[in-house]
Amino acid sequence: MAITITVFRLCSLLIFLSLYPSVSLSDRCNPKDKKVLLQIKKDLNNPYLLASWDPDTDCCTWYSVDCDLKTHRIISLVIKDSTIPDTNFSAQIPPSVGDLPYLESLVFHNLPNLTGSIPPAITKLTHLKSLWIFWTNLSGPVPSFLSQLKNLTFLDLSFNNLTGSIPPSLSELPNLDALHLDRNKLTGSIPDSFGSFKKVPNLYLSHNQLTGTIPASLGKLDFNIIDLSRNKLQGDASILFGSNKTTLMIDLSRNSLTFDLTKVEFPKSLTNLDLNHNNISGSLPAGLTALNLQLFNVSYNRLCGQIPVGGELQSFDIYSYFHNKCLCGSPLPACK
Ligand SMILES: *[C@@H]1O[C@H](CO)[C@@H](O)[C@H](O)[C@H]1NC(C)=O
Ligand SMILES: *[C@@H]1O[C@H](CO)[C@@H](O)[C@H](O)[C@H]1NC(C)=O
Ligand SMILES: *[C@@H]1O[C@H](CO)[C@@H](O)[C@H](O)[C@H]1NC(C)=O
Ligand SMILES: *[C@@H]1O[C@H](CO)[C@@H](O)[C@H](O)[C@H]1NC(C)=O
Ligand SMILES: *[C@@H]1O[C@H](CO)[C@@H](O)[C@H](O)[C@H]1NC(C)=O
Ligand SMILES: *[C@@H]1O[C@H](CO)[C@@H](O)[C@H](O)[C@H]1NC(C)=O
Ligand SMILES: *[C@@H]1O[C@H](CO)[C@@H](O)[C@H](O)[C@H]1NC(C)=O
Ligand SMILES: *[C@@H]1O[C@H](CO)[C@@H](O)[C@H](O)[C@H]1NC(C)=O
Repeated sequence: MAITITVFRLCSLLIFLSLYPSVSLSDRCNPKDKKVLLQIKKDLNNPYLLASWDPDTDCCTWYSVDCDLKTHRIISLVIKDSTIPDTNFSAQIPPSVGDLPYLESLVFHNLPNLTGSIPPAITKLTHLKSLWIFWTNLSGPVPSFLSQLKNLTFLDLSFNNLTGSIPPSLSELPNLDALHLDRNKLTGSIPDSFGSFKKVPNLYLSHNQLTGTIPASLGKLDFNIIDLSRNKLQGDASILFGSNKTTLMIDLSRNSLTFDLTKVEFPKSLTNLDLNHNNISGSLPAGLTALNLQLFNVSYNRLCGQIPVGGELQSFDIYSYFHNKCLCGSPLPACK
């Protein structure tokens, strides 16, 4: 499941980046933008990664940036260490990134020596649609001030070293398609305010240390994808389901959720359901046989009774069902 989601995320990034092909124009670069970029390069300690940023050339041709085709203002800054092995990249995100006023996309990716916290200067980027800071060594909180970036559609802060609790203000982002805060060290509970997202984002909060119960307010939302796996969440998760929803993927695995699955009604659209390693009781509802499931895992719970026959349920092996209280029937041994 985690792999599926990671691949999904990387694909979205690639698709997204391909929307901004490099442009090469005869010195059209805005002089203000060029000055700021050179400051950013300096603030990042002149990394080898930015060797192409030569003040004597058109900044619209530089590696890692893209200019708008009409205005020639910098709209995309993508700093990632992928192919060059010895970049000697060691720095913090410089506040100078806030001085590229037309930036729509800002990416820091695969930079283990990028440290420090997310600078408030980012809030100056009012046109920002995508902020991806992932696979870095960034620490400190998920800043509440990110809620000021009203045009954000993608916010990805996964695979970092962020701590503290999730700021309730993020639900004030009105255009969010996806929110990735997974693979950090976040604590506290999921904010109640998350039930008031105007547009419901794909929500990825897995691999943190989140505690408490899933707020009842989330039950009102119709998520496409929700991944809360590998936290310390407790209590009822049945509110996330419902026959009227159009949810595709729900991953709640490896928490401490305690609820009765017997009467849960599932969205017909559900393809991935991972509930392994919780404290879920009751039996498997017959409604599961109506689903076109591609991934299903209820192992390591306290379920009982016969596995319903039909649909995709017998296409999974015993490892999707083992370690329960008294589940029985194919693919597990027959009921007594
Ligand atoms: C690596 O970074 C350090 C500190 O910023 C600098 O002194 C050194 O010259 C850099 N080495 C290379 C090969 O760029
Ligand atoms: C990160 O910094 C350490 C120590 O300064 C260095 O050994 C390592 O090569 C750096 N890694 C990258 C990817 O720059
Ligand atoms: C991440 O940063 C911490 C200090 O904030 C440091 O101890 C650790 O070595 C860094 N990890 C990597 C992979 O650079
Ligand atoms: C957000 O985007 C819309 C349309 O792309 C634009 O008209 C608006 O000015 C942007 N908002 C800000 C604060 O830049
Ligand atoms: C997070 O920080 C710890 C130590 O502070 C370090 O061991 C670990 O590698 C860091 N994680 C990342 C993703 O850099
Ligand atoms: C599903 O939606 C219909 C109409 O929107 C409503 O009448 C019905 O009560 C809903 N059922 C459930 C289970 O929420
Ligand atoms: C599982 O749930 C039962 C009943 O609610 C409770 O008694 C038990 O302590 C829970 N076990 C764990 C490991 O959370
Ligand atoms: C289901 O979860 C269990 C426990 O983590 C794991 O051993 C098993 O491989 C999983 N099965 C599938 C099909 O993902």
